[in-house]
Amino acid sequence: YLRISKIFVMKTDTKYTITSALPYANGPLHIGHIAGAYLPADIFVRYLRMRGADVVYICGSDEHGAAITIQAKKEGITPKDIINKYHQLNKQTFEQFQISFDIYHRTSSEIHHQTSAEFFKTLYDKGVFIEQVSEQYYDEQYHQFLADRYITGACPKCSNENAYGDQCENCGSTLSPTELINPKSTLSGEKPILKTTKHWYLPLDKDTEWLKEWVNEGTLEGKQHHNPKEWKKNVLGQCNGWLNDGLRPRAITRDLDWGVPVPLKDAEGKVLYVWLDAPIGYISATKQWALDNGKNWKDYWQNPNAKLYHFIGKDNIVFHTVIFPAILKYHGDYVLPENVPANEFMNLEGDKMSTSRNWSVKLDEYLQKHPTKIDELRYVLAVNLPETKDSEFTWKNYQTLINNELVANFGNFVNRVLVLIHKYYEGEVPAIDHSQKINNGLTKGAQATIDEIFDAITNKVQQYVALIEQFKFRDALAQLMDISAYGNSFLQFNEPWKLIKTEAEKVKTIMGVALNITATLAALCEPYLPITSKKIKQILNDDALCFDFENVKSTITKLTKAGQKINQPSILFEKIEDEFVAQELVALKANIANDENESKASNSKPEIVFDDFAKLDFRVGTITAAEKIAKADKLLKLEVDMGFETRTVVSGIAQHFKPEDVIGQQVIVVANLAPRKLRGIQSKGMILMAEDANGKLVFQAPATKVENGSAVN
Ligand code: 2FM
Ligand code: ZN
Repeated sequence: YLRISKIFVMKTDTKYTITSALPYANGPLHIGHIAGAYLPADIFVRYLRMRGADVVYICGSDEHGAAITIQAKKEGITPKDIINKYHQLNKQTFEQFQISFDIYHRTSSEIHHQTSAEFFKTLYDKGVFIEQVSEQYYDEQYHQFLADRYITGACPKCSNENAYGDQCENCGSTLSPTELINPKSTLSGEKPILKTTKHWYLPLDKDTEWLKEWVNEGTLEGKQHHNPKEWKKNVLGQCNGWLNDGLRPRAITRDLDWGVPVPLKDAEGKVLYVWLDAPIGYISATKQWALDNGKNWKDYWQNPNAKLYHFIGKDNIVFHTVIFPAILKYHGDYVLPENVPANEFMNLEGDKMSTSRNWSVKLDEYLQKHPTKIDELRYVLAVNLPETKDSEFTWKNYQTLINNELVANFGNFVNRVLVLIHKYYEGEVPAIDHSQKINNGLTKGAQATIDEIFDAITNKVQQYVALIEQFKFRDALAQLMDISAYGNSFLQFNEPWKLIKTEAEKVKTIMGVALNITATLAALCEPYLPITSKKIKQILNDDALCFDFENVKSTITKLTKAGQKINQPSILFEKIEDEFVAQELVALKANIANDENESKASNSKPEIVFDDFAKLDFRVGTITAAEKIAKADKLLKLEVDMGFETRTVVSGIAQHFKPEDVIGQQVIVVANLAPRKLRGIQSKGMILMAEDANGKLVFQAPATKVENGSAVN
C-alpha cells in the first residue's frame, strides 16, 4: 500500500470560500458544464462539510454582458425575460441534481449592482485606472459600439474564423476587437467603422511581474501564499502563456445599455465590463448569504484565514488567475485565490459538446426523463471528469459504468450484506469478535486478524482523503469503488453462506466487519452519490452517521453497534438496458436533425423589400420541346410557350427528367431574367423547381392549368 504520512487535521479557524463559475443565464446547462465547474466543486464542498469545515459554496447567474443581450435578440424577447427564464431553470436544475450551493444568486440583484459599483469606485478613487479615448468598432446600422461578442472575426493566434472580440474559444486567447482579422458585426453582419469613445482600463501591464511570482512560486509580497505544486498543470500552463507574452491594459467598461452602470458623472450609456462585475458576483452572493444566515461575509473574503477556491472550465482561466486576482489586489482588502482547479472540456460521442450546434445532453431534459437516476449520472460524470485533459461521455460507457460498477460492484456488495444481516440475524447487528482470524479478502485461503483487515480499509480511506485534497476526484472515487470491490471479495472468500451451518460465531464477525465496510461506504460516497449515501444511512438506522477522518481506523470499527436494528434494504441501482442506450442515441441525433432544419430556415436569404420583389416577372408557360445537350449531362434545352412568344431555356434538370417526360408540362418561368449563354445556347429565363429532402427536383406549376403567359404574383 501507498503510505500516507500526512494526518488530515482541519484547522477550525479556516473559512473555506468555494465558488463555481456563474453560468450565463442565457440557456440551459449541459453535462459538459456540470463536469467542468459544478460537480467537482460540489464533491469538494461536500467533503469539507463532512470534515466539519466552515465552508460557504457560492454560485449564481451571470446576467450581464453580450451573451444575454444577443440571446434576447435571438429569442425576440427582452434581456430581463431571458435572465428570468434561465435563472429559474438553471437554479432548479442544479437543485435537482443535488449541487449543494449555499446560495444561487443573481448579478441583476440590487446588492450586486451596489457591490460592483462600489468596487469600481474604490479602484477609481485610488487612481488605479487609465482613462483613455480611442477609436472602437461601431455598427452604423444599429448605432452601437461593438465589443466582446458583438464582433467576430478570425483569431490572430489560431485563425479560428469565429473568434469573439474579447476571446477566442478555440485557443483560449484573450483578444481585443481591433486584433480580429476581417471583423464583422454580429448585429448587422456588416464590416464596422471606427468611432471614438472613452473607457477605463486596468493597467495589467504593471501586474505581470507579481502575478508571475504569485502563480509560480506562490509568494506574494515576500510571504508564502499557497503551494504552487498544488496548482494543476493545465492551469499553470495557460497562466504562463499569458504572463510570458506580457499583459496589456484592458478596458473594463463598455458602451452598452445592459449591465452595471459606470458610477461616474461623465459615463452616460456606459456599463462595467461583464468580466469585471461577474466575479464580484461571488462577493455580492456571499454578502446576501451572510445577511440571510447571520454571518459576516468578510470572514470569507477578507480574513487572512479565508481560503478561496474557484472551480471553473478552462475557458475561464485567465479571468480567475490573472484579471480577478489583479482586481482583488488593487482593492487591497481581499484574499487571493488559494487555488483555481480548472477542468478541461468533456466531449460527447466523439464530438465537441456545444449548445449552439445542439450537440449536448441537457441536464434539465435528462432529469425530466430519468428523475430517479441522479446519482447514476453523477457517478458517470465523476469517473469521466476532464481533470487533466478533455474527456468523453458516451451513452454506451454510461451503461457500462452503471452496470459494472454501481450495480455489480457497489450495489451488489451493500445489498448482499444487508440481506444477509436480515436473513441470519433478523436485522440485528452482530458483534465482532476481535480475536477471530478470517480470510483477508484478497487471496483465497489467506487468513488475517480483524485488526489487519481494518488497517487495509483505513489505508484506502486515507488515500481517498489525500486524493480529494489534491482535487483528484476521479482517483478518489476509484479508491471508494475499490473498498466495495474489496468488500465483495471479502464476502466471496469468507463464504459466510457456507460457514453459517458450521461456524456461526465466525460468521457474526464476518458480517459485522462487512457491515462496517458498508457504513464506511455510506459515509464516503456522500460527496459523489448523496442520494445513495442517505438511503444506506437510513437503512442502517443512522441518518446522522458521521465519519471522524482524524481517527479513521477506530471510526471504522465503531460505525455500527452490535445489537442495533437495521431496516429492510432496497435495491440501490438498476441495470441499464441496451434499449435505454439506443433511445438516448436516437434522441441525441434527433436534436441535431431538428437543429439542421432550423438552421435551414434561418440560413435563408437576407430580407428584401417589396420593390425588390416587384422587379421579378413570373409567367406561366408550357414546355413544348426538350432535348439533351451534347457533353452536358445536367442540362436540357427546352422550348417554352410563353403565350406571347416561345423561348429557349437551358435548364439543369437532365439528371432528374428525360426529355420526353417533360413535354406538355406547365411551369413557372422567371421571364425577365437577363439572357445567358450556356454551352453556346442563348437561354432566356429560368424555370422554378422545388427540391425535396432527397434532393429530387419537383416542377412548380399552377395547381390547375392556366393560359400560357399568365402572370404569377
Ligand atoms: O463563461 C461563463 O459562462 C461566465 N458566465 C462565467 C463567469 S464566472 C464568474 F466570474 F462569474
Ligand atoms: Zn484562437
